[in-house]
Amino acid sequence: MRQMLDQLESEGLEQLEGVQDARQLEAWRIAFLGSKGRLRQAMPMLKDVPKEDKPEVGKRLNEVKQRLEGAFKQKKAALGEGGGQPQGPRLDPTEPGIVETRNLGRSHILTRVRAELVDVFARMGFEVAEGPELEDDEHNFVKLNIPADHPARDPIDNFYVDDPATHPRPRMLRSQTSTVQIRVMERVLGSGGEPPIKIISPGRVYRPDTVDATHSFMFHQLEGLYIDRDVTMADLKSTLLHFARAYFGDDAEVRLRPSFFPFTEPSAEFDMKIALAPGSEPDWIELGGCGMVDPNVLTACGIDPEVWTGFAFGFGIERLAMGKYGIPDIRMLFENDIRFLEQV
Ligand code: DAH
Repeated sequence: MRQMLDQLESEGLEQLEGVQDARQLEAWRIAFLGSKGRLRQAMPMLKDVPKEDKPEVGKRLNEVKQRLEGAFKQKKAALGEGGGQPQGPRLDPTEPGIVETRNLGRSHILTRVRAELVDVFARMGFEVAEGPELEDDEHNFVKLNIPADHPARDPIDNFYVDDPATHPRPRMLRSQTSTVQIRVMERVLGSGGEPPIKIISPGRVYRPDTVDATHSFMFHQLEGLYIDRDVTMADLKSTLLHFARAYFGDDAEVRLRPSFFPFTEPSAEFDMKIALAPGSEPDWIELGGCGMVDPNVLTACGIDPEVWTGFAFGFGIERLAMGKYGIPDIRMLFENDIRFLEQV
């Protein structure tokens, strides 16, 4: 009987080793520990053992039983709740991963350029101000000293929301960010404040232009306004020059050409001489308009032009982005063709 118990023990443990899943484990349990299993079958044999050997053999029987039960519990725990290894291919965590190129998202080029511009002007002390895109003609024209018969107010050239022929103060999609000059001056004076005011305002503007390589019915401008005591044209030009050098590099140059805008006097258009592609010859590109804020504009906003003076400027962001990144067609900025977006 002793031999038989030894064999039962070693076979049991050995076979248990080979068990790999819950199904095999259950089969093993039935074979060895079940009610008709080998252990149970061994028990009645004890009565045939000579009396003097009984205690020892009985002890051994118990030992084998505990061994097998213990090993069974361990195995069960090792296979886990889920009942062991899943069928099918095993997972080899040392295998190299599948090489897949993940495309990281990034900001649109206009968003990046806008952020760069804000950054450069912030270093010169300009704060970002915002105004509504759905405006009224009061802020888009009237307070900017643009008279009722001015061609810029022609309904053909603007996205009016209300009919200007019947509404006293028709709403419209703003056609320029100069509106924000008025909004900010009103805001400052309305809350009991006074200049200095030093803001930039990047944002969308809308004009019913026919779309082509250089025109879009929606584009972005950046407006600047600085009002303080004794602000001069020299401050304007040096601010633009500072900006040009900070953004395009130390070789950049700025040129002002006399012009006319209703909201500035004197007015100028400004060009920057910049190298578009690295290593190429710098060339002049027309960027925008600027000038000294017209006294009528200051007065309309409650600012005394005898005490305060200021300059303003405005330019198109697309123009600048296209120049800086060599983009030939403005439509590329809005089509969202993935092949374009991946390049810039
Ligand atoms: N608002 C003008 C435009 O859309 C640009 C401009 C010109 C803005 C002169 C200014 C300025 O602030 O002083 O064409």
